[in-house]
Amino acid sequence: MRVSRTRGLLITAAVGALLATSACSGGDSSSSGSGSAKQLEVFSWWTSGSEDAGLKQLVAGFKAANPGVKVVNGAVAGGGGSNSQAVLQTRLQGNNPPDTWQTHPGKAIGEYINSGILADLTSVYDEDGLEKVVPKELVTSVSAKGKIYGVSTGAHRGNELWFNKKLLAAAGVEITASTTPEQFVKALGKLKDKGTTPLCVGAKDAFAPAQLFENTLLGEIGPDGWNKLVAGKSSWTSPEVKRAAKLFSQMLPYIDPDASALTWDQATKRLAAGECAVMSMGDWAYGELVKDGAKDGSDFGYVPEPGTDGSFIMVVDTFVVAENAKHREQGLKWASAISSKDVQLAFSKEKGSTPIRTDVPTDSLPAYQQAAADSFRKDSLLQSIVHGEAVSPQFQQSFYDAVTQFIQSKDVDSFVKYLASAATS
Ligand code: GAL
Repeated sequence: MRVSRTRGLLITAAVGALLATSACSGGDSSSSGSGSAKQLEVFSWWTSGSEDAGLKQLVAGFKAANPGVKVVNGAVAGGGGSNSQAVLQTRLQGNNPPDTWQTHPGKAIGEYINSGILADLTSVYDEDGLEKVVPKELVTSVSAKGKIYGVSTGAHRGNELWFNKKLLAAAGVEITASTTPEQFVKALGKLKDKGTTPLCVGAKDAFAPAQLFENTLLGEIGPDGWNKLVAGKSSWTSPEVKRAAKLFSQMLPYIDPDASALTWDQATKRLAAGECAVMSMGDWAYGELVKDGAKDGSDFGYVPEPGTDGSFIMVVDTFVVAENAKHREQGLKWASAISSKDVQLAFSKEKGSTPIRTDVPTDSLPAYQQAAADSFRKDSLLQSIVHGEAVSPQFQQSFYDAVTQFIQSKDVDSFVKYLASAATS
């Protein structure tokens, strides 16, 4: 199921409906609707092995702090959240918001903030002293007009390349942090010549091929170019963007022929099983590889996406609480519980992410995650297009659509023109 191109409009309509009724349904309705105050519905798209394990850690942390509260898992399958977003919009439209739901900072949460449907979580930040330990930029990216509306669990690096070490060795291919995008395309060719399926892509999840392009784009335009592009200060038809599209088109013949039938986590399993060699994916792939029993160092390796060393596209999972949630008070307690140091660490261990709080000791995390945590502290931090942080939901959807069409057409000029027109509409 794909989200329609009118996703942004849907959000606007949905929140309008919600606002119209929120005045009368109001606040914590312990005695109304579906339930007692001793309940909380958590809505997310975390259903893969590692995602579900990460979610369970959040729930365990919440339950430990709030014994006796029933947690309803409202997760809707579909990597990157496309399916869950569609369900969420319908629920918002029907004035049936989940108590708390997963989103991302920046434009993604901004859509809900601007519509006035979120509970103010500033008191949670104040009571738990979170402003001292959450990086300022992140607090800002979930805030508006001095109020804070989201709590973040972990940051994933979006621009990472994962590979099956044995397949690369067998093909005599080496990919390092200094491999250029052009060398990377050649390496894919070499893998194919050896009879290996070069690129693992879970294209059933629309975000996965879009992520491959997002990462290729960053490799060509760099962090400054990225910030200009998403701020509308440079053009989608620039030679750099065209070069990225060209490179992306050169990668397409190396994609697993079964890609369209696979979700991102199924593609990850194929990488671990040696059925394909290389995958462009965020740090959640680390959690999934480990969950699948693959061993870091002997079975799989990783480097920043070619051309992107020193940049960190941060994909930050963030929870919000509905202002007129059926269990608003429990929602606020959820926000507090999942912000605690222990819960953040336990979550990141399963999920492959970096704890958002700077006071969480990372020395018990695997070496990869420790290195990612270092990068998170020193690299150029960028917001993701694919995960809706840097751009509006409408443009995010156009980006997915453009990539899907480009995979068929391989027409660079139409692709960049489509993006340019979507960026200005
Ligand atoms: C991202 C999310 C990650 C991971 C991924 C794949 O949007 O931030 O936590 O779940 O989607 O589903």
